[in-house]
Amino acid sequence: MSITMSTRWAHDLQIPGIVAPMVEEEVLSTEETGRLKQEIRQLLREHNAVLIAHYYTAGDIQDLAEETGGCVSDSLEMARFGHQHSAQTLVVAGVRFMGETAKILNPEKRVLMPSSDAECSLDLACPAQAFTDFCDAYPDREVVVYSNTSAAVKARADWVVTSGIAVRLVQHLRAQGKKLLWAPDRHLGHYVQQTSGADMLIWPGSCVVHETFRAQALVQMKLAYPGAAVLVHPESPAAVIELADVVGSTTQLLRAVQQLPNSQFIIATDNGIFHKMRQMAPDKQLFEAPTAGVGATCRSCAHCPWMAMNGLRNLAQALREGDHEIKIDAEIGLRARHSIQRMLDFAATL
Ligand code: 13P
Ligand code: SF4
Repeated sequence: MSITMSTRWAHDLQIPGIVAPMVEEEVLSTEETGRLKQEIRQLLREHNAVLIAHYYTAGDIQDLAEETGGCVSDSLEMARFGHQHSAQTLVVAGVRFMGETAKILNPEKRVLMPSSDAECSLDLACPAQAFTDFCDAYPDREVVVYSNTSAAVKARADWVVTSGIAVRLVQHLRAQGKKLLWAPDRHLGHYVQQTSGADMLIWPGSCVVHETFRAQALVQMKLAYPGAAVLVHPESPAAVIELADVVGSTTQLLRAVQQLPNSQFIIATDNGIFHKMRQMAPDKQLFEAPTAGVGATCRSCAHCPWMAMNGLRNLAQALREGDHEIKIDAEIGLRARHSIQRMLDFAATL
């Protein structure tokens, strides 16, 4: 990666300190797993519903999504899939911004989630009012926000992006001579800025999961596995990204595991993705990149505590009772839809 200009941080912002919650993973007997899966299959049919899951959710949920005609994917494809599918109810297994995006794009559909507590540290670090004040202070800048934000933040933005297309979109805006304001992930923002050379002012949020990856320990691990390719999600710190052979969204990292000739991979993203990676490339050896959690207590090392709130029990409950339905203020939804639709239209041109 060639460094084209220095990164500009919005230093003076007061953003909330985010603490990852302590979450117990759901543990079920084989019998209960089988019973719940059967019930969910039936409820999906009865409610004309489709299950859309992120790669970081539990393997059973991912498998169920695929075998019932839903999808498991990155956040860009989750948005696309829900928008194009004819089901009247979308059940989104992921975190709140994913359910909100589905509802914004499909206001006429019912969107349910297994848990209403499934947040995201990036979304939490970017309160709508503080963000609006920030944007108002820089009226000459086009506003680009990561999809990991609330509906109200998306409504204030000119563009929404996911990690899958962030670099391409910012390169496109830079070519038009635009100066940008970027929120909320500082690591992704820094990476995009360095890759594109765009003039970006960056909000200082971060992902509690990806921030735990450690560059020094990764250097040691590379020495131990010299033939391994290093795959890194761009929400990771810059020093970790610099050690990567491939930087990309969850879907792009999965593709790399399938397509690269290496037989070993070191992976710096949520370890939920290993489920799909093992299915897609059973002959490859996969290792978790080292985190701050080695020898310590960590609530978010390589696994998102909010994604872990999705389980088969609360998924079945959501379908049975209509729990955790996503509601979006109509006016906010309309404005947010505009900036999300621009992302989908841009993605369709790539
Ligand atoms: P992807 O768009 O790559 O799936 O990332 C979403 C996310 O929340 C990563 O932490
Ligand atoms: Fe948010 Fe990080 Fe969890 Fe992704 S992994 S949902 S960015 S907290």
